[in-house]
Amino acid sequence: MALTPFLDPLHIPRVLRPKKRSKDVTYYEVKMEEFFHQFHSELPETKVWGYEGQIPGPTIEVEQRECVHVKWMNNLPDEHLLPVDPSLHSSGEHMPQVRTVVHLHGAEVEPDSDGYPDAWFTRDFGKCGPRFVQKVYKYPNNQRPATLWYHDHAVGITRLNVYAGLAGMYIIRNEQERALNLPSGRYEIPLVIQDRTFNDDGSLFYPSTVNVVDPPPNFPNPSITPGVAGDTIVVNGKAWPYLNVEQRRYRFRILNGSNERFYRLSLDSGQQFIQIGSDGGLLQKPVRLDELVIAPAERIDCVVDFTNQPVSTKIVLKNTATTPFDFGAPPDPETTGLVMEFRVVERTGSDTSSVPQFLSTIKRFDEGDASRIRDITLDVTTDMYNRLLFLLNNRDFMDGITENPIVGDVEIWRIINPGLGVHPIHIHQIQFQILDRIPFDTDVFNLTGQLRFTGEPEPPQANERGWKDTVQAPPGFVTRIIMRFGPYSGRYVYHCHILEHEDHDMMRPFDVVPRRWVRVKKI
Ligand code: C2O
Ligand code: CU
Ligand code: CU
Repeated sequence: MALTPFLDPLHIPRVLRPKKRSKDVTYYEVKMEEFFHQFHSELPETKVWGYEGQIPGPTIEVEQRECVHVKWMNNLPDEHLLPVDPSLHSSGEHMPQVRTVVHLHGAEVEPDSDGYPDAWFTRDFGKCGPRFVQKVYKYPNNQRPATLWYHDHAVGITRLNVYAGLAGMYIIRNEQERALNLPSGRYEIPLVIQDRTFNDDGSLFYPSTVNVVDPPPNFPNPSITPGVAGDTIVVNGKAWPYLNVEQRRYRFRILNGSNERFYRLSLDSGQQFIQIGSDGGLLQKPVRLDELVIAPAERIDCVVDFTNQPVSTKIVLKNTATTPFDFGAPPDPETTGLVMEFRVVERTGSDTSSVPQFLSTIKRFDEGDASRIRDITLDVTTDMYNRLLFLLNNRDFMDGITENPIVGDVEIWRIINPGLGVHPIHIHQIQFQILDRIPFDTDVFNLTGQLRFTGEPEPPQANERGWKDTVQAPPGFVTRIIMRFGPYSGRYVYHCHILEHEDHDMMRPFDVVPRRWVRVKKI
């Protein structure tokens, strides 16, 4: 079924109102519900799961250092909307099929508020996972202003819960950033880009099995697949929407909220994007780019200047990224190659916004700051059912802790990708910096485990020199990142953000260890 592109206007998620606000705490309640949502006016309504009855969820806007408490409430039915694979880590028969836990991606929060995959809960907190601690999550917002997002993170079914609709934006602001006079208000717009496939009746399609060689008789049904990309591009819950833009500058906070799909975005007017921020907040300087390559979970904060575009010009935001990235099939120029359309209209009032040449100070880590280097290999193997299985350091989610950085310590992690595709690797609690990417001989590595570098380290792209929480780790390269762990100690996860990889089984727990405790043990 072909949907007419650019038929429906872009929807802008509404900003969530707090339940209570005192001088110390802002308190929100957010319900997860099942409801019907229309993704396109030619498509029947779709049964979805979302926060507060919206796709994407309402945007949560907070001030830096504002103490925010959120009670995330599960009002979902007992049966899942999408095919649940019973074989995945702890999603067996004894587990409630519908379980949820919310993670605020990119946020510096205590472990008990981080949305650990085993901290899930069912409707009305009827059943709770082994790591469930509290109903109300605390967000201190003690970090740089940034574009974060919240999404479900329940063990074994994150891919399904997010695909069903459980995702929304979370924006931290402060006075300093407001003083920069970037486009704001109606001219600052979040763009949550996702892909979906719809059945003819409008229902969500998510594949329920996968073809493997010699499937054993006990092959799981339904079964996970190595990645799911939809044939329809959805922005803020509408398929291929359009947006009327005045002849002025706009700030777009772009999130790739897709399960597997990367996007290589460009404007068919030949205009450039002026990137001003990355995952963890503003860059030091704006960077002009013809194309933006954005992996699942990454955010790009950018300005597009429509000032000199004639009225009624139509500008298409296009996508040219292959799926799987970057070795799979190119997008269909008529469907997945299109994202949305901007229609230029006359300006109302004058545009007094600006894009200053200096945005914020980014103090770069020095390699010498690091007290430890760890290697993280991205492995491809097969599981007991002959299905493709992705792992980190050849361990699965249930294996014991191997990474235990000390609070306050700086570490370098070398992410070694000897495989085929690009994996977006995400670490909880902290923001990191990218040091470089060093090419290496994957054949030698796969045979002997030895790292033989084949070229000079490639420095990060200009738009990657800010704070990041998710990094593209391309095949044939060792991607080196550097970060300071803390301030909180406790159990977190790091994982690939291709959600089918994360669920099977490219996610690992890690412990941030209090320094005091380590000292005592050493004596
Ligand atoms: Cu956006 Cu651990 O996730
Ligand atoms: Cu995260
Ligand atoms: Cu991956």
